[in-house]
Amino acid sequence: PSLSIGFKPSKNFEKVNHKVPMLSLSNAFDKTDLENFQKKITNFLNFKEENNFFDYSTEPKIDGISASLLYKNGKFIKGLSRGDGKIGEDITKNLSTIDDIPKLIKNKNFPKEIDIRGEVFIKKKDFKILGDKFANPRNAASGSLRQKNPEETKKIPLKFIAYTYGYSEKMNIKTQTDFLKNLKDWGFKTNKFNKKVSGIDNLLKNHRFLEEKRNEIDFDIDGVVYKIDNFELQKRLGFVANAPRWAIAHKIS
Ligand code: IVH
Repeated sequence: PSLSIGFKPSKNFEKVNHKVPMLSLSNAFDKTDLENFQKKITNFLNFKEENNFFDYSTEPKIDGISASLLYKNGKFIKGLSRGDGKIGEDITKNLSTIDDIPKLIKNKNFPKEIDIRGEVFIKKKDFKILGDKFANPRNAASGSLRQKNPEETKKIPLKFIAYTYGYSEKMNIKTQTDFLKNLKDWGFKTNKFNKKVSGIDNLLKNHRFLEEKRNEIDFDIDGVVYKIDNFELQKRLGFVANAPRWAIAHKIS
């Protein structure tokens, strides 16, 4: 079970507090779950049901290992594993071996201090080359990130896709869609199947599309994440237990 919440801190790595916790997502399995999700949001915001046409940022949920990358003045300073969500492990040296992780960002609008978060994973075709050392791509990514010796990590072609942030100094970005666009400008890889969608029927259409595309996508996905696009609304909605009220993972089985 610990696999689904990241990995337990080991003595090989220093433990570090996340400035902002790394949360989980609640799950949805069908149309009813999505309707209930949207209804709850509508009620919480005191909106009227008939004009609750929220924009969602929809993002394939990559089945990898999440990481939090701290940047100060554009420099990649420290990289943490999720750990238990509150305390992660300092895996900076291993993360530094990943080409997709920019080490220096010079864009003027890149916040002075920010934790960029995303998923470390291995492509299906690269996993095949590795032979039978690991049970699946996710284990390969996890095992490789946990190597004591970064030279061992380097041998495995890990990838990184960015999708959110933790702590950040003031950012003048108003929506998740716009944030994802900025991530790209700053030199991060983002998912090419990310899409702004509104209305439950369109969410379902997009889900079916990705379900069908699944075998063509070169990495494992286990769902589609829906996030209320507007950051102001996200802020108003806040969190329940350890998951945001403004997001849900629609599973693909
Ligand atoms: S957002 C506060 N976006 O899903 C929101 N997570 O169950 C939490 N994941 O540990 C993260 N793709 O490893 C977010 N586009 C995406 C994601 C994503 C995969 C994973 C992530 C997280 C888990 C949450």
